[in-house]
Amino acid sequence: MSLEFTGRDKLIASLDAAVADGRGDDRAVTDALRKTLCRMIRDQDVALPDCVLEPIADHYARRELYTSPEHGYSVIAMTWGPGQGTKIHDHSGMWCVEGVWNGRLEITQYELAERDQERYRFVAAGTIEAGTGSAGSLIPPHEYHTIRNPSGQSVAVSLHVYQRTMVCCGVFSPDGEDPQWQSRGERMLGTDQVAGG
Ligand SMILES: [Fe+2]
Repeated sequence: MSLEFTGRDKLIASLDAAVADGRGDDRAVTDALRKTLCRMIRDQDVALPDCVLEPIADHYARRELYTSPEHGYSVIAMTWGPGQGTKIHDHSGMWCVEGVWNGRLEITQYELAERDQERYRFVAAGTIEAGTGSAGSLIPPHEYHTIRNPSGQSVAVSLHVYQRTMVCCGVFSPDGEDPQWQSRGERMLGTDQVAGG
């Protein structure tokens, strides 16, 4: 599906050009996309649809803006109400580039320190607070992270470009008594309604 908004064609042409520039090399593609996203967030010609400014009370919202028929990448806008965030999760082995469109987000990366059959132990590998106009990328195996809107008042909006449509991902939850160990559950990822769609 695809959603109309101001500057949509310019945004898609820019993302297409970045993906083509990378010639299939994950690092080159994500570098090019990261620079492009930073530019697009500041571009006055591009405005995301109003619906992505609306948070949803009980979960952060995921709204699909576009899927590339040519390159296969998927563009999702996420809306984070005050304090909303994720557990530690992965991206099912896909690369992803994420940019902050509005507000601020706190992103903590984790490295897998140990795996004992179905139990995982992570160590935090750094937290950044990313402001409007910044973007970062995740390339497997360095894909474990949490995202949270640290504000008690403001809504944050981020734009995520995934390698392919992500239908499910791994979400980690404390396993048993020892909080250091987590187990992986598959979460099916839905998208929330967009205005008129
Ligand atoms: Fe993520």
